[in-house]
Amino acid sequence: MFQRVPVLTIDGPSGSGKGTLSRSLAMHFGWHFLDSGALYRVLALYALQQHCRYDDVRRLVELARSLPVIFLDEQVILNEVDVSLTIRTEDCGSAASTVAVIPEVRKALLDRQREFAKLPGLVADGRDMGTIVFPNAFFKVYLDASAHERAKRRYLQLKRAGYNVNLHDLEADIMQRDERDKTRAVAPLRPATDAMIVDTTDKSIDDVFAIISSEAQRRLSKF
Ligand code: C5P
Repeated sequence: MFQRVPVLTIDGPSGSGKGTLSRSLAMHFGWHFLDSGALYRVLALYALQQHCRYDDVRRLVELARSLPVIFLDEQVILNEVDVSLTIRTEDCGSAASTVAVIPEVRKALLDRQREFAKLPGLVADGRDMGTIVFPNAFFKVYLDASAHERAKRRYLQLKRAGYNVNLHDLEADIMQRDERDKTRAVAPLRPATDAMIVDTTDKSIDDVFAIISSEAQRRLSKF
């Protein structure tokens, strides 16, 4: 018998706490996890490796359709090489947001993202999960935080991972990326009309997790 798949979407700008929250929720419920940003990052990296320019739309679409990527728990494998760390650099994030403005590229990645929706459920992390990719999600969350707070979080995260970064540059980079994500013509970053909006600036990860997981549980009982 056909069984509906519960999909929980977490959208918001980078550094809003989406990644950590989404992974914890997926683990908590024992569900699948989609890091859609990683898909755009991998595509940008793959284009670079294949000497494809970011304005060569036809080629980019071909690469998006044939992207030889595998997601394993914490690892992202591109063409049999572990690129989990490589795709986390600010350069790769910036390149991802450049290819992500192209409507044809977004369309080419749609089915691949929707394939993640499998039983027992999915937590999908991104920018347009609730608005475009999974409009029928049973629970849509939009996380936000001030640009300064988000830059600070990114700074600590990258420092811990051993990168030499500058807080001021990071904040400028984040604001530039936000602007590009919010003003693009296709799938701009914005909350779905039926999303629950949570400002995480003054909240701990544990607080946000408690709010979202209990609300998800409440809605699941009626799913
Ligand atoms: O979330 P993350 O920082 O990894 O995403 C990298 C870039 O990919 C974002 O700045 C955004 O431009 C793009 N992206 C997107 N749609 C998504 C996820 C990411 O456009 N669903």
